[in-house]
Amino acid sequence: MYSTECLIFEHDNIVRMLNVIRHACCGILEGAEINDADFRNMIDFVRNYADKHHHGKEEKILFPEMVSKLGPVAETLITHGMLVEHDLGRSHILGLETALNEYKENKTTEHKLDILTEAMAYAHLLQIHIEKENSVVFTFAERQLGEDVFSEIDKRCKDFEKAAEEAGTQKHYLDMLSRLEAKYTV
Ligand SMILES: [Fe+2]
Ligand SMILES: [Fe+2]
Repeated sequence: MYSTECLIFEHDNIVRMLNVIRHACCGILEGAEINDADFRNMIDFVRNYADKHHHGKEEKILFPEMVSKLGPVAETLITHGMLVEHDLGRSHILGLETALNEYKENKTTEHKLDILTEAMAYAHLLQIHIEKENSVVFTFAERQLGEDVFSEIDKRCKDFEKAAEEAGTQKHYLDMLSRLEAKYTV
């Protein structure tokens, strides 16, 4: 299906960013200074590509169809699972931003620890979240939602992608990802 293929492609890109975050954290443990601008870019990518752009399609297009058409299993999987994890991710990113702000004011080891803790908590959460969506949630949707429902989901995802492309969203964030990847993971 176009929609799930698109979401899985985005998962691959998000995992690449999780890898950047992990390497940046390892660098700090090995004595590197915290690069505030790079961490702000990681937050920007997470908020606008992983959350607004990617979770936007899940939360506005795919998940509501699953919840309304697939009964209590979807309710448990989506409403009490995936959506809770999206919110938890947002709170770790807010925690990371707060820790960066505090570290900027006062460069203590404790604030540095908060940066590492929130960044790695987010990376760990999203890694597991993405594995669950790829292996359970999307396959469940593909098996259970009818072809007509999926063709409507696909159409709405295509329109969403097209509007974002016109705004330059994908290119902007994938370029940012490549720059950070070249710096941190090679
Ligand atoms: Fe998700
Ligand atoms: Fe996802």
